[in-house]
Amino acid sequence: MKQANKSRRGWMRTAFGIAAGAPGILAAAEKTATPPAAPGWNGLGPSYDIATDIVNLENAYYGIMSRPVAEDFKRNIDYLNLHNSRFLRREFDREGIEAIRAQLAQHAGVGVKEIALTRGATESLQNLIANYRPLAAGEGVMYGNLDYDTMIDAMDDLARRRGAGVARVTIPEPASRQNVIDTYERALTQHPRTRLLLLTHVSHRTGLAIPVAEIVRLARARNVDVIVDIAQSWGQLDFRIPDLGADFVGANLHKWVGAPLGLGFLYIKESRLADIDVQLGNTIHPANDIRARVNAGTVNVAATMTIPASLAFHARVPLAERAARLRALREHWVGQVLALPQVQVLTPQDPAMYGAVTSFRLRGRTGFDENVALARTLADDFGIFTVARSGPAGGACIRVTPSYYTTHADLDKLVAAIHKLARS
Ligand SMILES: Cc1ncc(COP(=O)(O)O)c(C=O)c1O
Repeated sequence: MKQANKSRRGWMRTAFGIAAGAPGILAAAEKTATPPAAPGWNGLGPSYDIATDIVNLENAYYGIMSRPVAEDFKRNIDYLNLHNSRFLRREFDREGIEAIRAQLAQHAGVGVKEIALTRGATESLQNLIANYRPLAAGEGVMYGNLDYDTMIDAMDDLARRRGAGVARVTIPEPASRQNVIDTYERALTQHPRTRLLLLTHVSHRTGLAIPVAEIVRLARARNVDVIVDIAQSWGQLDFRIPDLGADFVGANLHKWVGAPLGLGFLYIKESRLADIDVQLGNTIHPANDIRARVNAGTVNVAATMTIPASLAFHARVPLAERAARLRALREHWVGQVLALPQVQVLTPQDPAMYGAVTSFRLRGRTGFDENVALARTLADDFGIFTVARSGPAGGACIRVTPSYYTTHADLDKLVAAIHKLARS
């Protein structure tokens, strides 16, 4: 028993930077020490161990853990393996997980009762969509062509189960802030029975960042609820959950926060909790507890234990500065290919509408297979790893995603490759 208490304090102290003898785990977690001053970008790059056999410009799949986070994760695997169920049952399942949830709520700028941990954005959004209660037969759901396939499937499934209609929006290409807003406004007017709208803050297909708050306002005026997918934008753009104005949001932590794979959270505004049903009859938590909206069983606890280290590392550079750095990397390569008549860049030159992710295509090459082949050429002939994406109005494209450790030299390699391919 004595040993167990000692272990627990050891882990909590390490995870949260809690001073010895601090009163109350939760209170202490909220007071997590302010991280050291921002080291600047030259200081952050060396915190990553990066494979050097290829230039990785496919960082939208998931984010590489920085070295401090990866080391913490490994320590947590060992710690968990050593202390096993005693640590989980007596300590982590009661205090540890709640301290992490409290810290995450603070990070997101919402109340702790409004947040539940998940295994990623897919689980967060599937649970929100599938359990959305207000949709009635004869009403409708709406989503767009740039949304994520799994969420589109979930919206279709919800509509089918409820006897509701489906309205599909096509985001114009080229997109602009105004034409995106106009597109949703027109669609909501044309489909007045819409009850639920899915929005993806940053598209995984093109990198387009849409003006979510404005569209939420339009929807709210028509009594339409909005579920926002922030899988790509959380940690990539400078915002907090309340800025979106939406009542339902799904996120992960393993892309732009750089936590271990298999982590995310869902947000439900406290006053709207009853509008999302509990997950599959979950009785582990009472129905008035947001945690009843998730039931994932035994998860990767060592990953969960690493959330404090991930948030601490993420906080080393203010989000506004991180977001600006990512935008600047995107501008570095886009600025050098934009004038090429053969190249189409799929995010507009409006800094409010992109972050790190931006897709391009070679004019006329709109097929998915053609773009898969092009991504392969970029990898095999030029040593640059990207990915082909489908779904934009004008056809398939190549997604390019630098990250915190990407250098201008990496991007110049891409620029040279695009110039060569455009001429061929
Ligand atoms: C826009 C978008 N939504 C949802 C997801 C799913 O996220 P997760 O891997 O956390 O389940 C992704 C992942 O690529 C995404 O890009």
